[in-house]
Parts: sequence; structure tokens; C-alpha cells
Amino acid sequence: MQTLTIIRPDDFHLHVRDGEALKSVVPYTARQMGRALIMPNLKPPVATVEQALAYRRQIEAATPQGSSFRPLMSLYLTDKTTIQTVREAKAAGIAAFKLYPAGATTNSDAGVSDLFKLLPVLEEMAKQGILFLTHGEVTDPDIDIFDREAAFIERIMKPVLQQLPELKVVFEHITTAQAAELVCQAGDNLAATVTPQHLMFNRNHLLVGGVRPHHYCLPIIKRESHRQALLAAVTGGQSHKFFLGTDSAPHPKHAKENACGCAGMFSAVTAIELYAHIFEQAGALHKLEAFSSQNGARFYGLPENSDTLTLVKRPQRIPETIAFGNGEVVPMLAGEELAWSVAY
Ligand code: DOR
Ligand code: ZN
Repeated sequence: MQTLTIIRPDDFHLHVRDGEALKSVVPYTARQMGRALIMPNLKPPVATVEQALAYRRQIEAATPQGSSFRPLMSLYLTDKTTIQTVREAKAAGIAAFKLYPAGATTNSDAGVSDLFKLLPVLEEMAKQGILFLTHGEVTDPDIDIFDREAAFIERIMKPVLQQLPELKVVFEHITTAQAAELVCQAGDNLAATVTPQHLMFNRNHLLVGGVRPHHYCLPIIKRESHRQALLAAVTGGQSHKFFLGTDSAPHPKHAKENACGCAGMFSAVTAIELYAHIFEQAGALHKLEAFSSQNGARFYGLPENSDTLTLVKRPQRIPETIAFGNGEVVPMLAGEELAWSVAY
């Protein structure tokens, strides 16, 4: 039987919600990932060090006994974030600030209205060596939803990179050829996370034969040529700039299967197996370990995990639903068979 042992991976983009829902989903990530960068888009947002430390305690309390999983915390950048907040964050071991342009996605109404008014705050991040994570979409109603990321590159990302060459930036969950190209061409201060869904699906999967609410996430899945560009990026010559970030984002089943369904795909249950499938299909299984376990740690200035995870070429069926607080959540590719399993 084919097996593949890799340094234990990290998930550098994860939503775990809070309360009872959090208790349901944290164990899935803790059993395969060494660390996860936790997104701060709760209601209210995690915008202060005190809130982040309390949130981390909740996640630690939901981590199964004996697991060495460690959450890495981020703060939600708002119009009210100050230089002092950045200094406090650094002192408290917060890894990053996350930009949500106002209105871009789930719980983003507290997001930034004009990033360029926060330049002194970004300068302080660069000075402190704290990372700047971007949800890379503009929310101007004139911009078509499929063009939001490309517009963000021109209006926000390029000017930020130019004005703050010292700032370490992660272009989160990239979805377009333009984003992949920018990351490949930019300096070593820019890297990107890539989700399993954006590597596996194009917009036909979302819309042909009926609308698939469980394939709806933001940034929205793009056309096939973009998926091909993402695959080329994570397996190509500049692949050290791309790393694992699932954007696993659980919502209750009823909130997805709804006349106004929420954005987000819940992939945490089989995250590493999904990526193994993707890399194998692309003929690049030998690049899985760097993507999953090395490139992100290096960019964040963290050591690689000291233990390993073994994947086995043994089929598994993804559950139809998973308990989620007092309801349920539908995982990515629910009910389908995956060729790889983790030897837990
Ligand atoms: O699809 C998404 N869901 N994209 C995001 O950016 C946020 C996430 C969520 O929190 O539900
Ligand atoms: Zn996200």
C-alpha cells in the first residue's frame, strides 16, 4: 500500500467560530495540523489583544487531550486599530492582522473602509515584523463579483506593496491567474494561501445543473483557466511562495441551504487528504510537503513542526454531515470518496 509521510502540516487560514460550534470543529483540525492561523471574523470581531487571548483559551480548551495542536491568533483590522494595538499584539505573540474590506464576506461589516488611512498602522506592522493578511477583494458595487480580486490587486495590493516594501503580506485564498502571477513576480515579502476548493473546482461546479450552495464561498470560485493558473502556481518554479490555508469556514446546514445562503466551505475534516488528492492529480505529490508543512512556517518565521503525519492510499467516504453545536454542517465533498486517508 502506498504511504506518504510528511512533516506535520499547518493550516494558515482557518475559521473555527466560537461557543458550541467551535467545540465541534476544532478537534478535526487538531488531529491533523500542528498549528492553525485562526481568523478573527467573529461577531463582534476579535479586534483587541484581550479578545484574542480569550479566544485562544476557548480553542485550547476544545483541543483534545494529548494533542500538540497550537492555535496562532490574528486580530481583525478595523478603522479604529492604532499603532499601540500593533505594539500590544506583537508583545502578546499575536501572529498577524487580517484585512477584511468592509462588506466583503461573513462578518466583515466592521472591516476597513479606507486602508490608506491606516498607513501608519501598517508601517508599525512592518516595523514590528507582524504579518498583514488580506482578504483580497474590493467591495465597490460597480465591480462584478468575479472581478473583485483582480480589482483589489490594482487598487490596493500593488500600492501597498509599493509604499510598504518591508511589510510581510499574505494574499489569502487566491482565486485568479492575476493573483498567482503577482505573487510569483513580487518580492519575498508577498506570499499566498490557496484553498482546496479553488484548486479543485471552477464556476461550472458551482452553477451547472443547479446552484450548489455548498460550493459557494468567497472569493467566489472562478473559471477553469484560473484554476489551472493556481495549480501551476502551487506546483511550479515559484511554489515556495504558496502554502496551505484551507479557509475551512463552517456554517450550519440550514444557513447554506437557504434562499440567501452563507459563503464558506467546511474542509477541515479531510483537509490534508484533499490537498494530497489535488497534488497527486497534478503529478506533483512530491511538492505536497513543502506546500503543507514548510513554506508557510518559513514565511511566518516559525520552525517546522517536529513530528510527522502519514497519508495512506486507502479510500475513505466523506461523511454527509458532521455535528456542529446543536445543529449540523455539511463538509466539502460530502458523501464522496477520497483516495487518501490519514493514518491516525
Ligand atoms: O467563504 C468564505 N467564508 N469566505 C470568507 O472570506 C469568510 C468565510 C466565513 O467566515 O464564513
Ligand atoms: Zn477565510
